[in-house]
Amino acid sequence: MKRALLVLSALVLSSASLAATVAQVKKKGVLVLGTDPTFAPFEFKGPGGEVQGFDIDIARALAKDLGVRLEVRSVGFGALMPQAVTSGRVDMAMSGITITPERAKVVSFSAPYYRSAQVFIVRGGNPGKFTWPGDVKGKTIGVQANTTGQYAAGDLLKPKGATIKVYDDFAAGLADLRAGRIAALIGDAPTVADLQKRLPGQYAKAGQDLTAEDYGMVFAKGSDLAAAANRTLARLRASGEYQQLLNKWIVQK
Ligand code: ARG
Repeated sequence: MKRALLVLSALVLSSASLAATVAQVKKKGVLVLGTDPTFAPFEFKGPGGEVQGFDIDIARALAKDLGVRLEVRSVGFGALMPQAVTSGRVDMAMSGITITPERAKVVSFSAPYYRSAQVFIVRGGNPGKFTWPGDVKGKTIGVQANTTGQYAAGDLLKPKGATIKVYDDFAAGLADLRAGRIAALIGDAPTVADLQKRLPGQYAKAGQDLTAEDYGMVFAKGSDLAAAANRTLARLRASGEYQQLLNKWIVQK
């Protein structure tokens, strides 16, 4: 009897929890994706304001496999990871989000879907002669708030005497870099490659990569949507669609 009660209360608790499940998403007929669309080529606004990119196409494939439509909601990165997901405001997040053990304590990740790195962006020609590893002492380095770039800077650059400047918005960091207010800005390798392609000569990569990391799709802790996402990723890889999406969106290394 006691046992039955325990099972019952566990059931009630789990159904009242905010983790969106496959069944719930199918019932409402829509998969709500949260993303911070300031991160080309993974998510960014097109000329008409529509959010597009590699991540959006992957999320759309998941929605298709679930038989529902995709709704894309713009959320600032700081609110997205992880509050928008843990509170149930969105069913999932994709935003070039790096899988880390700390984050995995509060959300569920899909299998890795893209290998990335944190790199240093400097002004074209590197007027500040920034290098890494090298003397970062006394240099001001920009990072985006709540990102793995910020975490790596705190762990690796601050102890070496660098000053870390935190931006909520990556574009503000780029503006400061152009104005020479910071020596370098930390960003994700594929977004930096995209910037270099779109604005030739304005930006360069400097020094060695700071980290190697993998992106994952993000779901509420314990949601069965993560397993569904893994099935979609496997399908896209096997059919060649994954490679087509890479070719469509991402500057190849
Ligand atoms: N990969 C980094 C992280 O997970 C940065 C992601 C930033 N994404 C964005 N859409 N602004 O922390």
